[in-house]
Amino acid sequence: MRGVVLAGGTGSRLFPLTKVTNKHLLPVGRQPMLIHPIFKLREAGISQILIVTGTEHMGDVVGLLGSGRDFGCQFTYRVQDEAGGIAQALSLAENFSSGEPVCVVLGDNIFEDSIADEARRYREQGGGARILLKEVPDPERYGVARVEGDRVVEILEKPQRPPSNLAVTGMYFFDAQVYEIIRRQRPSARGEYEITDVNNAYIEREELSWGRLRGWWTDAGTFTSYHQANRWVMDANREDV
Ligand code: G1P
Repeated sequence: MRGVVLAGGTGSRLFPLTKVTNKHLLPVGRQPMLIHPIFKLREAGISQILIVTGTEHMGDVVGLLGSGRDFGCQFTYRVQDEAGGIAQALSLAENFSSGEPVCVVLGDNIFEDSIADEARRYREQGGGARILLKEVPDPERYGVARVEGDRVVEILEKPQRPPSNLAVTGMYFFDAQVYEIIRRQRPSARGEYEITDVNNAYIEREELSWGRLRGWWTDAGTFTSYHQANRWVMDANREDV
């Protein structure tokens, strides 16, 4: 399995911290944000990793990460020309993944659990998609799962009336069907190609499984969540601070 870290977008919710740099280069604990998902992929035994980011800060991202040698990984880079949504960014991984399944991680998702067991479960599943859910107090900020019995039957993107408190986190496992699914997609009302539509397409095919995160998880895309991510990471590494 290969890894994809999506690190594009404008970071507008963190302006002016993002005026001269990419959100994913801001510090979380002792590391730039982007390093956290890379460590999670490596911990799950995934070392061939594609990094997708915009043109503006690609130079800094490459300067930070290099070839991957220092991380025990091999990095490949692709430019996302404009911020067109997570699914559009993921479509750039098609050649890189060359028919293999991918573990996709959003570069601003900071979390405690290892994803090694989830990667194993996904491999055993033998295809389709797998998502990871987490109970949150503010589900309306996220993709939210509607669960019936033990099945996710629908995902709603930032619903005003969430059907549960189970947020869809930014770690996804997909097989190579994902690119054909994205090609058939249309942009949403906010003008983006939504990862939620991709997941709903797998639900329609009855090929989506899900797991649950036990430890803490947050995105780091707003001031509140960015500070929360820093607090959790600092607390987890108290001895090194
Ligand atoms: C994106 C996804 C959303 C998901 C979230 C996780 O939201 O669209 O479904 O729950 O990432 O971080 P965004 O951060 O683009 O608002």
